[in-house]
Amino acid sequence: MRIGILGTGNMATALGAQWAASGHELMISGRQPAKAEALAQRIGGSARAGTFAEAVEFGSVVLIAVLHGAIREVLSAAGAESGSFRDKVVIDCSNAVVPGRFVLDLPSGTSMAEQIAGQANGAKVVKAFNLCHESIWRLTPPAFDGRPLLVPLCGDDAGAVETVRSLVTDIGCEPADGGRLEHAPLLEATAAFAIGLWARGAEAQAMLPPFEAFGV
Ligand SMILES: NC(=O)c1ccc[n+]([C@@H]2O[C@H](COP(=O)([O-])OP(=O)(O)OC[C@H]3O[C@@H](n4cnc5c(N)ncnc54)[C@H](OP(=O)(O)O)[C@@H]3O)[C@@H](O)[C@H]2O)c1
Repeated sequence: MRIGILGTGNMATALGAQWAASGHELMISGRQPAKAEALAQRIGGSARAGTFAEAVEFGSVVLIAVLHGAIREVLSAAGAESGSFRDKVVIDCSNAVVPGRFVLDLPSGTSMAEQIAGQANGAKVVKAFNLCHESIWRLTPPAFDGRPLLVPLCGDDAGAVETVRSLVTDIGCEPADGGRLEHAPLLEATAAFAIGLWARGAEAQAMLPPFEAFGV
């Protein structure tokens, strides 16, 4: 499929390289055209560079991979208010986490995913890929103890969720139904909480028992 990527940093690089290797066509965009061009070249294959607006027009899927504080501005630059995202599958991987405090920077109280859905008229937003560090998304595949990494997805549009499920599978992970977009605040809070645990030296993965252990 055709994927437009907004951003030229770590997440754009990690997921873009994986999807290009799976045969998807990419357009990379950023506020610095030279960075977008350099990343497209580094990814290689058919990957090309463009503006934010061109990447949205190019992709049936759009990955938003810029810092959370820049998303509103970037969506506007891409024509969100005038309908450029209509019917696009939009993947939001952002974490609005305050560095060092590991609390959410969401003054409006609304999750990033719901803010994006509110601004990008007609977009089919799916929250995904926000739980793990970018270094994990570079692994081929991201698997631990012989099991593929589980990637929860939250979204309201069944077709969009199905599309993102296939992109999860393409990188060797296993998709999990995280519920509707109203569950995105929980996924965003889970990321902030887990990052805080990891930062304080706890093995966050170990805090949940395996499914089989429940005595029900
Ligand atoms: N890093 C992780 O481990 C990780 C994991 C899960 C989710 N995430 C989320 O993924 C998103 C991207 O993170 P990242 O690690 O890829 O960040 P990054 O490597 O720091 O890259 C940030 C990107 O945002 C762009 N940007 C920053 N301010 C901007 C502005 N005012 N206008 C336009 N573009 C702007 C940067 O452009 P310039 O290069 O021009 O500054 C760059 O393309 C974030 O929302 C983050 O919360 C990150």
